[in-house]
Amino acid sequence: MTTALSPLKRGLTWAECVLKFAGRYLLLSFQPSHWKPTTSPEVAVENTSVCNARCIFCANGIMERPRIAMKEEVFRKTVDEAILLGSQVIDFSVMIGDPLLDRKLLERARYIKAFPQVREMGMTTTLQWLHLFDLDEFFQCGFTWVAVSTTLSGRERYRDFFGVDKYDQMLVNLQALLNENNRRNKPIKILITIKPTPEPRRDILNHPDFKLVLSLTSQNLRKMVKHEAFFVFDWGGAVRLPSYLRLHPLWPRKRRPCGRLLRHLMVYSNGKVGACNCVDFEASSDLILGNVEQDSLVDMWHGARLKQIQSDWRSGKSIPRVCQLCRMYRAGPAN
Ligand SMILES: C[S@@+](CC[C@H](N)C(=O)[O-])C[C@H]1O[C@@H](n2cnc3c(N)ncnc32)[C@H](O)[C@@H]1O
Ligand code: SF4
Ligand code: SF4
Repeated sequence: MTTALSPLKRGLTWAECVLKFAGRYLLLSFQPSHWKPTTSPEVAVENTSVCNARCIFCANGIMERPRIAMKEEVFRKTVDEAILLGSQVIDFSVMIGDPLLDRKLLERARYIKAFPQVREMGMTTTLQWLHLFDLDEFFQCGFTWVAVSTTLSGRERYRDFFGVDKYDQMLVNLQALLNENNRRNKPIKILITIKPTPEPRRDILNHPDFKLVLSLTSQNLRKMVKHEAFFVFDWGGAVRLPSYLRLHPLWPRKRRPCGRLLRHLMVYSNGKVGACNCVDFEASSDLILGNVEQDSLVDMWHGARLKQIQSDWRSGKSIPRVCQLCRMYRAGPAN
């Protein structure tokens, strides 16, 4: 699952974050094996780049590439080649979009599930559109995790953050998902991520909707809200953030290739393939390795271009432009 919270969001203090970073930075520098890419990457599939919402911190509002569902042949080629690569994790981790806005989502999930080597398949979603699917079918199609992006302090806060009036529907869907998951003995790992809103923490903790959701999950939502930091990223400087949000620190990175670059591939809805699934929302950065419509995922993962990016970074020759100011940089392994 690639949605792990950052140390800041896990509630570590600044001093702990710095110490942790420094420890990793030093220790891992002396382990050459650490800088070796994994043999089988995790593959993020952007099954659709369509999203109805306009979150205040998201690049959706400024994205210029077409908002489209991935073509079926592109989807199948992606999955088939990920399987050839030995990938055990294939997620609907879209860069921009909402996986539930793809009407073929469940069919596609079943296609992935049919390969026994796949041990993880999940998605990050607002859950605003879960009601479009049959819940029983949803639970049978093989998802191992679902990360839900939301707020739980009322309709207005939600609308201010997400830019759409879909709170009531989201809440109905979230309760349905949690209840059904509990009834079935939790086959899906559900991770609720509460987005930062400009209100006192106690207002969230005391909100009846927060309490209701809290009663349906074993996740420590209180801790998340209490420690919930306002630290976010700005999509490489492309998005102007409201002043109450704070940017993740820019950790030093010279000669230390980002952990994500060694473990992930991102396939966009238009077939383009990126070496990272984090901030290149236009699919136009120097991390783009090709297009799965013409090129093979296997060749791109083992190819000269990706190796060059990794070795140029490690040797100090160059760091990809998009990575230089990226706030999602990882000094260590991404998992
Ligand atoms: C880009 S969205 C795509 C999936 C889906 N639309 C959603 O929002 O859950 C993936 C995750 O990135 C988060 N996100 C978007 N912009 C962000 C930012 N500037 N800083 C931190 N997280 C961000 C979203 O809240 C969401 O949890
Ligand atoms: S964060 Fe997700 S829901 Fe919000 S605008 Fe971006 S893609 Fe849409
Ligand atoms: S630095 Fe940022 S853009 Fe570059 S690989 Fe890491 S997360 Fe991706």
